[in-house]
Formats: sequence, structure tokens, C-alpha cells
Amino acid sequence: MKNPSFFDGFDPFALIQTYGSPLYVYRESIFRERCREMMRLVTYPNFSVNYSVKANTNLTLLKIAREEGLHADAMSPGEIFVEKAAGYTPPEIFFISNNASAEELRFAVDQGIMVSIDSISQLALYGRTFPHTKVALRINSGVGAGHSDKVVTGGHKTKFAILEEQLDEALAIIEQYDLTVAGLNQHIGSFVLDPETYLSGVRALLPIAMRFKDLEFIDLGGGFGMPYQAGQPRLDLKELGEALDVLLYDFAKNYGRMVQFKIEPGRYISAECCVLVGTVNALKSNGDDLYCGTDLGFNNLIRPVLYDAYHEVETLPKREGAPVHPYNVVGNICESGDIVAAERPLPEMKEGDLVVVYDTGAYGYSMSSQYNNRLRPAEVLLGEDGQVKLIRRRDTLEDLLRNFEV
Ligand code: LLP
Repeated sequence: MKNPSFFDGFDPFALIQTYGSPLYVYRESIFRERCREMMRLVTYPNFSVNYSVKANTNLTLLKIAREEGLHADAMSPGEIFVEKAAGYTPPEIFFISNNASAEELRFAVDQGIMVSIDSISQLALYGRTFPHTKVALRINSGVGAGHSDKVVTGGHKTKFAILEEQLDEALAIIEQYDLTVAGLNQHIGSFVLDPETYLSGVRALLPIAMRFKDLEFIDLGGGFGMPYQAGQPRLDLKELGEALDVLLYDFAKNYGRMVQFKIEPGRYISAECCVLVGTVNALKSNGDDLYCGTDLGFNNLIRPVLYDAYHEVETLPKREGAPVHPYNVVGNICESGDIVAAERPLPEMKEGDLVVVYDTGAYGYSMSSQYNNRLRPAEVLLGEDGQVKLIRRRDTLEDLLRNFEV
């Protein structure tokens, strides 16, 4: 089993009965623990963990992350808006813009939120619009990584960031508009499981940073992976942290100042604290293939369809000793690609059983949709106080009409 103690003290069938199926179920203790692990990644004192909320913008989780001392990054005015609603103050928010309009940039700048700019063209726009201000630059140091080409954000095949060979051009714009580069950031991509890959990005960035004299911070990006497969080794945070410490202290010494270092974990913070629970509505076979038909359509969780991502899947009740068959766990959306998990050996099922999909707290609900006019599920938190808290209500049919004149 992926995490046999996930539901300890709680009854998944009762949760589904009360809050409906499917249901996103979060475990507060795991979320807090992941926040704490990131907060103690390094000993370097001037260090900030910015939760990358794109992974999960649930307001309650954002508040808990802030209680744990995390700050936040934002990719859009909407993320800034929600972060402020969760209590984050402008100095705790870093807007990492990409192809933003002048209005979007102004939304952040007017509130005193630091903005990162990630192209020459956007830098010129920023300079024209906000001369004599501080800005951060997103650098592409040439290193990219990730679990799919779709999430690699460094190197040469990406729309993101300013390349080293574009720096002279960037510096000319900086001078023209009297901007001060107060920060640099990078993000090589999402899902790194070995320390060395992350470190190679940091090693590539730091020499570039030496070219800037007024840096207050350097943001090393997110991308920290966690094991989706049972038995897969964890990212060795001790090894990574110790190696990072050497690089950070060394940089500060050469730079002459203890600049702030930031990281931006999204997945690591929120993936493992959550399971998506659905219900088996139908069982069928087609030739040799067995289908377990559930309400877990890809409107709820798009990762398997979009990235061929693997999530561990288990069924309840546990039928120990029952014959095991290779099931295709599918949803209720009108596309044949609507597969949560293909050919998984699972104990023989019955209609009404539950299917538990692990590690769905990152890029799960946040990428969900109302495709096929399906209602997005509720989210509940299994609290450290033993209580169940509804932290987002299920969509209603009326929500489907909310933006129309009727
Ligand atoms: N910083 C920036 C600038 C980012 O673009 C991202 C993620 C992060 C930090 C956080 O990355 P993380 O620590 O979560 O790997 N939807 C995909 C992942 C997309 C990541 C997008 N950017 C998935 O479900 O795998």
C-alpha cells in the first residue's frame, strides 16, 4: 500500500456519504510535515520557502502554509488575490510573471509586490511602465529537468526566462530605465528526484548572479519531486540541503553579503497530503480488457491523461485474498483517453467500492475543470484535531450557469 495510515481515525465510506463522490481528502499532518521539511532544508540563515501555490490554491492550505512560516510565489493576479485573502502580505509574495500585460504587472507593482520578468520584450515593457524601480529577472541558466517535456522550463526548448547570451541586452534596458535588479530567479522544471540535477541548476545560476551588484535575493526555484510509486526512493533532502548550504555560504562569502535565498516548492509541499476518492459505478470487459468505471473522470485529475503520469491506486474495502485482475480504472468523460490508471493489478471489485488515488494534492484540484459540465468535487481536511473540515464545497448545478445571462 502507498500509505496504509492515510485514513487512520477516519472512515472513507462515511466521508463519501457525507461529502459526495468523488472527493479530495487532505491530511493536515502530512501537509504540515512537508512544509517543515522544506523550511529546514538548509542551515543558511537568510532563507525563504515560497510555496508555489499553482500546485494547490486551497485557501485553508495556504493559511496553514503561512502558519508554518512559508511565503508564496504567484503566477497570476488571481494567485496574488487568493494569497492576500489567505493573509500573505506583499513582501511575502513574489510574482513570477510570464507573458504578462501591463495591467497585470501594475496589479502587482501597485501593491508593492516584487515582480520577476522573464523576457527582453517584457523587461522593456516593465522599464517603460515602471522606471526607477526594483525588479527581478528570471534567468535560464541552460539547465532543464522534469518528468515530461511539458514541464521542463530551462534549457533551449522553453518559452521561459532570459538566456545568459541575452544578458547584455537586458542590462542595457536596466540602465536605460534606471531599474535596479534586486533579485534573480530560476526554475529548471518540475519533478527532480536526485539532488545532483537540482544542484547543477544552482551551480549554473550562481556565476551569472555574480554579474549583478545589487541583489537582495536569489530564488533557486521549485521542482522537488516525491515518490509517486510505492517503494520509489525519496529525494534525499539531507544530501541536497548539505550540498546547497556549501554553495550558498560560498556565494555569500564571494558576493560580500548574505543575500536571501529562496526556493519555490509546489508539488513537494502538497502532493502527498491528499488522496482523490471515487466510486466504482460499473464494471465491464471488452475482449481481454477489464474496465473499472468510476466517477474519476479527467475533469477531476488530468495528470494521467496530460502527462501519462502515474498515481498509485487502491480499492476499498480491502479484499485480501480475492483474485487479482488487471483493471483499467477509467472515468465518466466522453473520451477514450479518460483513464486514471491502466492495467493495474487490483483485487476483484464490486459496484459501490471506492477507488483511492494517491498523491493528488499537487496539480489535482488546481488543474480540474467542469468539462462535460461535471461538478468539481468538494475538498475536506482531516485535521490534526481529529475533526473533518469541509475546505471547499462541491460545485452545484447552479455554478454551471453562474457566468451566463439567464
Ligand atoms: N516555480 C515556477 C516558476 C514554476 O513554474 C513552478 C511549476 C514551480 C515553481 C513549482 O514547481 P514544483 O515544485 O511543483 O515542481 N502540472 C504539472 C507541473 C507543472 C509545474 C509548473 N510550474 C504536473 O502536474 O506535473
